[in-house]
Amino acid sequence: MKEIIVSSGFLAASFFAVALVSADQTDKEFEEMLESSLRSKGIVKAEEVLAQDEVQKQCSTSGVTSAEDMKAILDSQLATIVYPNDGKYLGDWKAGEKIAQSGKGRRFNDKPDTVNGGNCYACHQISKDELAYGTIGPSLYQYGKIRGNSEEMIKYTWAKIFNAQAFVPCSYMPRYGHKGILSEQQMKDLMALLFDPESPTNK
Ligand code: HEC
Repeated sequence: MKEIIVSSGFLAASFFAVALVSADQTDKEFEEMLESSLRSKGIVKAEEVLAQDEVQKQCSTSGVTSAEDMKAILDSQLATIVYPNDGKYLGDWKAGEKIAQSGKGRRFNDKPDTVNGGNCYACHQISKDELAYGTIGPSLYQYGKIRGNSEEMIKYTWAKIFNAQAFVPCSYMPRYGHKGILSEQQMKDLMALLFDPESPTNK
């Protein structure tokens, strides 16, 4: 391949390079690059960061290419959801706001017992007072006010936070319950942040 590139001039070579490198080769080179450049540090283990489950593998290779693919992911992810045993979904919105704000946990400088945050503001607007929010996800400001608090809406929201891929295959949103990032109580507190009429989200 190199010979072809060298002998065919720079511009043509770029096209050849794109056309001739097979997807498998690119994937292999990319994997090697990840493995050689990522190092374990503190509580973060490179092999754990690189380990993908079946859905993650599919999302970073072929992706979703058919209705069957989509249904398979949605069904498998929906099956992971655990609803609260006591049937109570709403905790304390003040605690929820702190969890939404916190990006702590699972970083190399965290301790094994650091309590994880949700870092929700990294992707969502939630309460109006916080101006530093990301926009990868939709605004959740006035979530409860707009959506109401029917049983369906409460259960959908719980399930979305528990495993976002149960509704959007290959979603960018972390699967907080499924991956054990947040506890049941933390998720209840976030639910209160979204649904409690007294929460700044709904003011
Ligand atoms: C890395 C970005 C990211 C983070 C962090 C994130 N989300 Fe999301 N979220 C999304 C995206 C993107 C969507 C849109 C649907 C999808 O792609 O899954 C979404 C959708 C949602 C929805 C559904 C909204 C609707 O209109 O039905 C809820 C509820 C939600 N997120 C809550 C949260 C909460 C609570 C947290 C923190 C615990 C959080 N998100 C953290 C990216 C994120």
